Amino acid sequence: VQEIRIAYLGFGNVGRALDDLFAQKRDELRDNPGFEIKVTGVATGGHGMAVDAKGLNMQALRKAKDISAYSSMHLIDVFDFIRNCQANVIFENTPVNYQTGQPAISHIKAALDRGMHAITANKGPVVHAYRELSELADRNGCRFLFESTVMDGAPIFSLFREALPGANLKSFSGVLNSTTNMILTRMEAGDGFEEAVSYCQEIGIAETDPSGDIDGWDASVKIAALATVLMDIPLKPIEVQRKGIREISKSDVKKAQQNGKRWKLVCSARRVENGVEAKVSPSLVGPESPLFGVMGTSSIIQFETDVLGVLSVIESDPGPRTTAYGLYADFLNANR
Ligand SMILES: NC(=O)c1ccc[n+]([C@@H]2O[C@H](COP(=O)([O-])OP(=O)(O)OC[C@H]3O[C@@H](n4cnc5c(N)ncnc54)[C@H](OP(=O)(O)O)[C@@H]3O)[C@@H](O)[C@H]2O)c1
Repeated sequence: VQEIRIAYLGFGNVGRALDDLFAQKRDELRDNPGFEIKVTGVATGGHGMAVDAKGLNMQALRKAKDISAYSSMHLIDVFDFIRNCQANVIFENTPVNYQTGQPAISHIKAALDRGMHAITANKGPVVHAYRELSELADRNGCRFLFESTVMDGAPIFSLFREALPGANLKSFSGVLNSTTNMILTRMEAGDGFEEAVSYCQEIGIAETDPSGDIDGWDASVKIAALATVLMDIPLKPIEVQRKGIREISKSDVKKAQQNGKRWKLVCSARRVENGVEAKVSPSLVGPESPLFGVMGTSSIIQFETDVLGVLSVIESDPGPRTTAYGLYADFLNANR
């Protein structure tokens, strides 16, 4: 049995769900592939940081208001944490910064510089530093992986990396933002726009300021991540032609229903001669489209390649648990 030391940088919904999954998979991992997991570091923004090469007592630590009490040494800042956590794999799950990707990019760089695999659900580092971080990982013989940044645990990046060698992506389209899809679903059931937004806040999928979802920013960031990685064309979220769902009224939704159609916030990108044309905007779709049946928090992506017919991936019921699985899949791939 091989001991693998892991550290959680960011320990909120996703970090905790990942820790649950490691606990659930403990025996399985020990049997095959023969890994013994030891958590040697946990860092938060406002609830302290802890490292211990002997392994942290996660059950006790998870109940603590300030986790520093569990640390075997005093830590000055996050970079001190990275230097001293002695992990083989670091999971970066701090909040996304859409504008610059920081400080997560610096966290990941520091981890890769020390030869650790860096795995993240944070979209910022992918859209702002994909090439730089991947090249750094290659030079240091480790991996930078980010499956959970788009469609949570559904295999999107690994699909192209592992299962579709030699396939060239020409275009993709889909529904990639759960909150807006849920808002439109609720509006079809009779809610007004504001009512539907409140519902999404109540169930914890929309933030207090939901504009990142409603105005299409989250969707643009996902399009940028997909184009950057899968088409190898660096694309910034600002370069995505963007329109959100703010102007869709209850009567628009009703009129669409009367015509047997539905509004969806559609994300798309197409390779063109000198780059990529990318767009997010509300579109009317009919029952002939696979997007039509994708309701609530579910999402879908369709890929057009030079070798297959249209290939689709649909994910239903996403959440921190499915995001955790994407990180776990990356962990297994990095340690193969
Ligand atoms: N929730 C999902 O299902 C989902 C899905 C896909 C992707 N993601 C991405 O996954 C990441 C984490 O999401 P989440 O829902 O777990 O967020 P969250 O619940 O807000 O947790 C964020 C964690 O990061 C810590 N943190 C904040 N700033 C930090 C800093 N500068 N240094 C170290 N730690 C810091 C926070 O500390 P405190 O506890 O002290 O505040 C908290 O532990 C985000 O980038 C998000 O976009 C989430």
